[in-house]
Amino acid sequence: MKDRIAQLQRELTAAPLESPAQRQQFKQRYLASDGEIAGLCRQLPKLARAEKRVFGPLLQELKKMAQARHQGAQAPARSAPAPQKREDLTLPPTYERPGNSHPITQIQEKVTALLARIGFVIAEGPEVEDEWHNFTALNIPPHHPARQMQDTFFIQGKKELALRAHTSSVQVRILEEGNLPVRILSLGRVFRHETISTRAHAVFHQVEALYVDKDVTFVDLKKNLHYFVQEFFGPATKMRLRPSYFPFTEPSAEVDIACLLCRGKGCSICKQSGWVEIGGAGLVDPHVLKQCRVDPDKYRGYAFGLGLERLAMLLYKIPDVRLFTENHQAFLQQFKQPLS
Ligand code: FA5
Repeated sequence: MKDRIAQLQRELTAAPLESPAQRQQFKQRYLASDGEIAGLCRQLPKLARAEKRVFGPLLQELKKMAQARHQGAQAPARSAPAPQKREDLTLPPTYERPGNSHPITQIQEKVTALLARIGFVIAEGPEVEDEWHNFTALNIPPHHPARQMQDTFFIQGKKELALRAHTSSVQVRILEEGNLPVRILSLGRVFRHETISTRAHAVFHQVEALYVDKDVTFVDLKKNLHYFVQEFFGPATKMRLRPSYFPFTEPSAEVDIACLLCRGKGCSICKQSGWVEIGGAGLVDPHVLKQCRVDPDKYRGYAFGLGLERLAMLLYKIPDVRLFTENHQAFLQQFKQPLS
């Protein structure tokens, strides 16, 4: 049986199938009910059980082979001739342009993932904010420059509503909810009445992190900022905290990292200083906690706010913040490889 199957396999692979007569002959010889393969199948019941197990599948295989050869040989004769594809040579060329996420979206995703690893969860707040969440609750008094028209975009005819100038307004909303402890991050667009330049834009993105619990200290703040900087920019990145002032934190600091564009030599992005500010930070002012109905004798917190365009510029070595909003294909297509 084994030799016969092997012989038939050789025969039917070599059998000519060009003419209809040859195909008819092939069908009759191998596939008909009184053909060679059917003949061998009829012998199967007479075989021992072990042999049936071997030769049964081999015969099935042989039959499939014969059917495939027969059908394949018929296909070209049956199918209609392929229509002639007529190209219009006057049309402009088309390019396949698969999209990719905007670099700032990619930065947002990376920042969220890094902060999520140390327990921060996303919180959202509106882009149009009222006076209380924008200013008053954050210790920004009526005479503060941030409340002037030249710094903040106010909604026409509604002096008490403005486009938020930073994501710190979300802090207030979350603290007011009273679900302590809190460890939130808030990402989004912010708006400032600023002269647009290589470093500054009137519409940009920030991430705000807020951690309020019973034993939060400045050491926690520094440790977590250090973790973030090293994970985001790489383990060799230097960070420094410079004493500063924000109405809503005390003590306050500016967060700088060694300029990655010029490696500390001095360039327009680091204003020739070798260091670039990426954000502000500090311990939440007890008066802010009190205004948000959190007991400052029981709770303390830290907050930091970082500019996402600034992070992207340093990471990708982009010398001009305006590129993020100009939507040049050549620029955007460089970010096809998503950030890991
Ligand atoms: C603030 O906005 C504070 N809310 C940060 C903060 C949060 C301090 C929590 C303390 C506690 P500042 O104005 O420095 O701070 O802005 C923070 C970062 O946003 C800057 O370091 C910079 O990276 C970015 N940034 C600020 N202004 C612009 C701008 N016009 N264009 C692009 N990025 C900007």
